[in-house]
Amino acid sequence: MQKIVVLNPKGGSGKTTIATNLASYFAVSGLQPTLMDLDAQGSSMRWLGKRAKGQPAIHGIAGYERNARVTRSFATRVPLGTERLVVDTAAALESQRLPDITHNATAILVPVLPSDIDIHAAARCISDLLLIAKIRRDEQRIAVIANRVKKRTLVFRSLMKFLETLHIPVVATLRDSQNYIRAAESGEGLFEMKPYLVREDLEQWLPLVGWLAQRRPLTIEPGTPAITSRLTTVTPLGATAGSASPAGREGFS
Ligand SMILES: Nc1ncnc2c1ncn2[C@@H]1O[C@H](COP(=O)(O)OP(=O)(O)OP(=O)(O)O)[C@@H](O)[C@H]1O
Ligand SMILES: [Mg+2]
Repeated sequence: MQKIVVLNPKGGSGKTTIATNLASYFAVSGLQPTLMDLDAQGSSMRWLGKRAKGQPAIHGIAGYERNARVTRSFATRVPLGTERLVVDTAAALESQRLPDITHNATAILVPVLPSDIDIHAAARCISDLLLIAKIRRDEQRIAVIANRVKKRTLVFRSLMKFLETLHIPVVATLRDSQNYIRAAESGEGLFEMKPYLVREDLEQWLPLVGWLAQRRPLTIEPGTPAITSRLTTVTPLGATAGSASPAGREGFS
C-alpha cells in the first residue's frame, strides 16, 4: 500500500483538490483507494458524498470525527485491500502532529500557490517536515506541487526560484482551471471528465502520477495491523463501518 499525505498548513493551497483528484485517478486506474479526511471541514467527504453510484469506488474515512464511543485509532482504520491511501489534511495543522500524520507515508505532497505569503508558508511547512517530522531529503518522499499557476508571471518565477533552493522536487505545475471547480461540484475527478475538456489539465498530472508510481509501497501482512502509526491501522473492510463508498463516517456514530 502507498500512503500519500497532502499537506500544507496554509489554507486554500489546494490540498482537497489534489487529494480528491488523486483518489479519483487511483479509482479509475483500478488501484483500490481510500480517501481519509483529517479536516473537520469535511470537504473531501462532501466530495465523496456527491459521487454517483456507478463511479469507480473510493472508500471514505472521516478521520476528524470525534465520538465518545469511538477511539481515534478505530475511526482512522484503513480497510485491508486498500492499495492507495490518500490523506487530506487540515489548514492550520499544528507542527507537533506532523510525525503522526506523516508516519509511514510513501509520499508527502505540498501544494503551493504562487504568492509571497504562500511561498513563506511553504518554506515553513517544508522545514517542519524536515526538522519535526524528521523526513530526510534523501528519502525523496516530499514533493511540491505548484498550484493555480499563471506561467508568464513574476510571482510564478519567484516561486520556482524559491523551490529550487529547497532541493525538493516540483512534481507538478497545475494551471488555474475551472475544471477543478467543476470536479469539486460534481464529485468527479479530472480523470473521470470528458477528455476533450480536461486534456491540458491531465497532461499536467502526468509527472505527478509518474513520480508516485516510483515510490516504494509499504508491505502489509494480511490480517494484521500493518501501519503502526497511531493514525492509521489496517483492518478488514467488514470490520470498519461503511463500504467502498463515502459512507465510512456513518459507521462511526
Ligand atoms: N488549480 C486550480 N484551479 C482552479 N481552482 C482551484 C485550483 N486548485 C484549487 N482550486 C480552488 O481553490 C479553492 C481552495 O482549494 P482547496 O479546497 O483544494 O484548498 P485546501 O488547501 O484544501 O483548503 P483548506 O486549507 O481550506 O482545506 C477551492 O475552491 C478549489 O476549487
Ligand atoms: Mg481542504
